[in-house]
Amino acid sequence: MKMNRYGNVNARPDGIVEILITQEAIERRIAEMGKEIASAYRDCLPLLVGVLKGCVVFMSDLVKRIDIPLEMDFISVMSYAGVQSPGGAARITKDLDTVIEGRDVLLVEGIVDTGMTAGYILRNLQARAPRSLRVCTLLDKEVRRIVSIPISFRGFKVPDRFVVGYGLDYRQLYRNLPCIGILSDEIIGLDRS
Ligand code: IMP
Ligand code: MG
Repeated sequence: MKMNRYGNVNARPDGIVEILITQEAIERRIAEMGKEIASAYRDCLPLLVGVLKGCVVFMSDLVKRIDIPLEMDFISVMSYAGVQSPGGAARITKDLDTVIEGRDVLLVEGIVDTGMTAGYILRNLQARAPRSLRVCTLLDKEVRRIVSIPISFRGFKVPDRFVVGYGLDYRQLYRNLPCIGILSDEIIGLDRS
């Protein structure tokens, strides 16, 4: 079989020690999530707010599986590294283009880890008085949670390992991996030195 670095789900790409979730499993789960979301927002026009950049691959597949009218917008935040306080300091580097007062907003994340990022964004968006505000994430690294986040739509729980692919990066790489893989400690270790 032809090996390539990213595309072949049967071959482990460079730096990946284990394929945790295959492309097929992700696609199946996203189809189910699309149905759940469509049924939850049947009577309104939801605004899906993606958290850049980790949301991009997931969100673009997800919206194609939601068969009701919807709108999309994006937000980008920078967390201050090393800040450990719950809900720690962060700032918005790209804000919404949409006024969300009175809107039904669904925040779309690639992964919720400690919950600090999602917690910060939720507080910020809540202050703009949306009619409803819920969270959808492809991955939930629940064991690491510091800030409690109510997740309405979740793709998969993942263990406390550094995962990449399907939009999630390590130093901006691996976002285009079509599955979710566990990155080798060696790669992370190499970069620490
Ligand atoms: P938080 O700890 O929930 O605030 O997550 C902050 C951000 O860290 C997430 O939005 C991701 O961008 C990133 N992150 C956390 N865990 C992982 C991982 O396992 N792989 C890739 N990115 C991650
Ligand atoms: Mg990242």
